[in-house]
Formats: sequence, C-alpha cells, structure tokens
Amino acid sequence: MGTELKFKPKILGFVCNWCCYAGADLAGVSRYQYPPYIKLIRVMCSGRVDLALVLRAFSNGADGVFIGGCWPGECHYVTEGNYNALSMMYLCRKLLAHVGVNPERLRLEWVSASEGIRFAEVMNDFAAKVRKLGPLGKGEGIDENALKSRLEAVTNLVPYIKLVERERLRLPFKSEEEYRKFFTGDEFNRLFEETVAEKLAISRIISLLREGPFTTGEIAKILGLTASEVSRHLNSSVRQGLVRYAENLKAFVPA
Ligand code: FES
Repeated sequence: MGTELKFKPKILGFVCNWCCYAGADLAGVSRYQYPPYIKLIRVMCSGRVDLALVLRAFSNGADGVFIGGCWPGECHYVTEGNYNALSMMYLCRKLLAHVGVNPERLRLEWVSASEGIRFAEVMNDFAAKVRKLGPLGKGEGIDENALKSRLEAVTNLVPYIKLVERERLRLPFKSEEEYRKFFTGDEFNRLFEETVAEKLAISRIISLLREGPFTTGEIAKILGLTASEVSRHLNSSVRQGLVRYAENLKAFVPA
C-alpha cells in the first residue's frame, strides 16, 4: 500500500445548518459512505466562516478545510453570506499560495439539504485530493517551523486584510462566474500586490526575527525572497519602527 493511501488527513468541514449540514445528515441516514476523519462543524451560514477561522484550522494541523454552503440564490440570509464565503475562499487561497501552501487544501462547495449523495461524493473527492497532497507542510516541502511562522505571519495580518477586503474587495457581483473572473484576473492580482503582498512580506520578516537576529541575506534565503526585496521591506520596517539593525550583532532584530 502506498504512503498516499496510508495517510489519513485531518479535514475540517464548516457546513451551513440549512443546506450542507442537512445534506450530510441525509448522507448519514442513507448510508452513503464518506471518510470518518472529516470532522464537521455546523455554522448558521457559510458566510460566518471567517478568514481567521480557516487559518486557525490550518495552524492547528488541518490538512484540508472544507466549506459547504447553500447554492447561490438559496442563502437564508439577505446578506447572501454564501457570496461572502466565496469571496473569502478566493482571498484565502491567494494568501495560502503566497506563503507556499497549496491552495487546493481549501475547498468550497454548494450542497443542498436534499443532496446527500452529492455531499458524500464531494467529501470523497476532497479527501482523495488532500490525501494526494500529503500532510500540510510536508506535501509542500516546508518544514514545521517555517510553516508555523508563515501561517502566523498571515494570521497576524488578518485585521488589516479584513479592512482591505471591506474597502476594496466587497463587490456587488451576483454570480459565481463574476467572482471567479475577478479573483483570477489581473485587477485582483494588482490589488493584492499593492495592498497585501508587501505587508505580508514584512509580517513574515518580523515573525522570523522573533526567532533570532538575521542578516538580509539570511532572511532572503529563509523566506525565498530576493535580497533587494528584503532590503526594501527592512528599510520600510525600520522607518515604521518595527525592526532595527543591531550593530553589535551585524543583523536585524525586532525593535
Ligand atoms: S444560509 Fe446557507 S449559506 Fe447562507
């Protein structure tokens, strides 16, 4: 038996009470099988699944995170939380990819209360994909400490990212296709680079410096950035009073 088949991933599923949770229930009473290592958490709407919750799940060792919501147009709340969930999913995937975590580890699907079979199929498919990806971090070739530090850097930035999301990414789209087009297009990439990427790089540098003093070259090597990028971020962090150069150590430390 291959290692991929032996690996039982930890998968956490946030499922909407009104649709996907009932679909899971139906799958259960109809005896449609899906892997027992998928743990479900019931939420009142997929829109309640916060970016910080997903990151916390990964930081606590989840190899995959699933979000199940009502089909578009079927959300039980006027705020159409399922579109918020969709938007959050795209943003979170982008953040994960940015720190080297495979974004396929996060999946969102619509499952209605009557779709017990579909629920089991989606779960089996997601579990197979996560098994193929391997354990979180290991599958990406990132060691445990680096993974912890990268996820911590993103988590520390959540309040800021939420602000950006509210100011710049709350979009009046009314179809999945429009969301997909926007979040996979150039405009979103530009916005992300402009507003989040730089702050994230600084957050990663500060997280790293908490582990000890490092030179520009060492930071670049560890974080997989170029020396000039690190130098630019360090200059800006020094100006903001976040980091300082310790002359006696010939390296940077948190301010
Ligand atoms: S109530 Fe189900 S996704 Fe909003």
